[in-house]
Amino acid sequence: MTKAFEHLPSDAAIQQAATRLQAGDVVAFPTETVYGLGADATNARAVRKIFALKGRPADHPLIVHVLGRGDIDEWAVDVPEAARRLAEAFWPGPLTMIVRKAPHVLAEVTGGQDTVGLRSPAGVTASALLYAFRGPPRGAPCGIAAPSANRFGHVSPTTAEHVRDEFGPDLTILDGGPCEIGLESTIVDLSRGRPVLLRPGGASRAAIERVLGVPLGERDAHAPRASGTLATHYAPRTALALVTPEDLEVELETPANIAVLAMREPQGDIRVTSWITAPSDPARYGHDLYANLRTLDASGAKRIVVEAPPLLAAWEAVNDRLARAAAGVRGLEDDDP
Ligand code: TXA
Ligand code: MG
Repeated sequence: MTKAFEHLPSDAAIQQAATRLQAGDVVAFPTETVYGLGADATNARAVRKIFALKGRPADHPLIVHVLGRGDIDEWAVDVPEAARRLAEAFWPGPLTMIVRKAPHVLAEVTGGQDTVGLRSPAGVTASALLYAFRGPPRGAPCGIAAPSANRFGHVSPTTAEHVRDEFGPDLTILDGGPCEIGLESTIVDLSRGRPVLLRPGGASRAAIERVLGVPLGERDAHAPRASGTLATHYAPRTALALVTPEDLEVELETPANIAVLAMREPQGDIRVTSWITAPSDPARYGHDLYANLRTLDASGAKRIVVEAPPLLAAWEAVNDRLARAAAGVRGLEDDDP
């Protein structure tokens, strides 16, 4: 058996999770990016349970997870050619597209906006769950609405254990092992003319632009709300500082109750509370990032100090999440119940 399938849950576990979703319950499940907190996207009561569990404001929209390209027209209208090309290139995979919503899409899912976020996840467990949830094709829209399975404003979970740490033992969690990518999907808004990058993520800007043939626009004041775009998102509870390699050296000159995430081994007699040496490859760094932040958060240190990765395109998603985690130093409580 290959490693990729090591954590595939049993058919019975997948069927049980699907049955719970059909019954209007909330179930946490793995995707290739992060774990999601899922509910039947056509069931308003079920979707409201997600908001209650997460402590998320009701006007923050959820992504609808679908099986594939064939589902786009079940959920969206006026779908631009660019969206079809992106779906063909990236689905199933870590790309969420914001498109104009079909009339039936619940306001609970869209946060009252006229758009809907759609994504076809690539994880083996996520697809198996979607198939089991849908059952035999019935010509009705089928989708699982799911935000990341963390409390609002907190670090996204990349293992079943992280989800349990967030929500306790009562939540049904489909355990598919650690997520392959570890950072959330890239979000592109295709609902208003020129495609706009709302959140960098698992699909790179360069790869998306190659398919589109034009550069992605940047977010502006008219861009739709996305809670992942709040400055204080993705933050651990311990204050986090993002510092240059030089500033890290200065920090290390005096012993301190800090937890360090750096891309090198500690040298000499360094007295800090904990130290994690992160991979220097951006994909592997991103894969480990949330687990590393959780470990450092739990270390009892007064501050987390992160050595800033290079400001290069390959690091865009990682740098985005680190900047938000660092912004959480002030005012995190505003977001985080
Ligand atoms: O990788 C991912 O995208 C994970 C997995 C579980 O699929 N999901 C995820 O969901 O990160 P969430 O809710 O934590 O972040 C999705 C972001 C939110 O900031 C939300 O506001 C935004 O997508 N979003 C969803 N629908 C939207 C819409 N119609 N317009 C604008 N933003 C939207
Ligand atoms: Mg999230």
